[in-house]
Amino acid sequence: MSDYRNIDKIFDKILNSEEFISSPVYFEKKFSNSLLQNHAKVFLYLLIKSIKAKSVLEIGTYMAGTTKIISEAIGDSGLVISLESNKQRENLNIEEIGTWDKKFQENTMLVTSTSNDFFNISKFNEKIWFDFIFVDGDHTYTGALTDLLNSARYAAPGAIIVVDDAIQPPVFSAVKDFLVLNKDWREIGGKFNEANAREYIEPTSSNNSIPFLILEGPSKHFIGPRNYSVYKEFKNSLSGLNIKLDKPSEQGKLYSRFLISHLSGGEDGGMSIVDHVNDIEKNQQEINIILDKEFISHNENTIKVDIHLFFETQAKINNKLSLLKPPELI
Ligand SMILES: C[S@@+](CC[C@H](N)C(=O)[O-])C[C@H]1O[C@@H](n2cnc3c(N)ncnc32)[C@H](O)[C@@H]1O
Repeated sequence: MSDYRNIDKIFDKILNSEEFISSPVYFEKKFSNSLLQNHAKVFLYLLIKSIKAKSVLEIGTYMAGTTKIISEAIGDSGLVISLESNKQRENLNIEEIGTWDKKFQENTMLVTSTSNDFFNISKFNEKIWFDFIFVDGDHTYTGALTDLLNSARYAAPGAIIVVDDAIQPPVFSAVKDFLVLNKDWREIGGKFNEANAREYIEPTSSNNSIPFLILEGPSKHFIGPRNYSVYKEFKNSLSGLNIKLDKPSEQGKLYSRFLISHLSGGEDGGMSIVDHVNDIEKNQQEINIILDKEFISHNENTIKVDIHLFFETQAKINNKLSLLKPPELI
């Protein structure tokens, strides 16, 4: 079975659809605040609708024009979180959203934060895997690469990441290097492949009709021989991590390193490193990593924890733990 849901067919269908060809004028008027070209607006709307995305993250709200497109595409049972680092836009965007239909106001959450802070500190991280992520914030190489690396950590199984302004060289290079590091992701236009990963590739989008590079993630999240990271901030206490599997495990060892930063939130201040090894039995469906000592925050500041996980089986086959949902702190 393929590790991908294979959106190539959906992609072709959208580009050849009557709606894609005939709606740009309507979209231009309706979503005039969006910085996207009109065809790109229609494409984004149709793609989100076609894959039935329900949880969407947008990095870079600007005037909330594209946020509105996303909000309408996901419908009232969805949630779009849109991040904007520029505080001066906050009130303007709240006003803008106040002019929308109520049901679309309700499925939209604006967050004034840099993407980095959001990913590293956000309380939303706790439970959410995003079905769709629109990367359109920091267009520098390191900014775009960091956004992609973080996005992949919070992408749902089979998620789609759409990167805007693909032909900007720093953005294109960031996608190229992201794919080198994340071999389980693919770009759907086939613009990158093993043979040319080391060579210069002229910046281009996934298709000439749109300005985007479109990335598809693997259909499952795994903890395997390559590292899997969980970064969380927690308020009161940390005893360990709960991992629910969607397929019974093979016998093996789960290695974890907890980097616990309690510079201001803990009793004694500083940083703790706790290493753990769990013996995993064949057919286990749930794993609890329990720390020898509980960490407690004694004041308003939170304690942060980064957990690095590896799984290894002796036979080196089926050496992956397939996750049912995001691991949760306990
Ligand atoms: C190109 S505009 C976004 C356009 C919008 N998505 C649209 O389609 O209309 C980029 C926005 O991202 C914001 N931004 C830049 N770096 C950011 C970051 N690291 N996190 C969140 N927002 C960021 C900028 O302030 C700017 O408003």
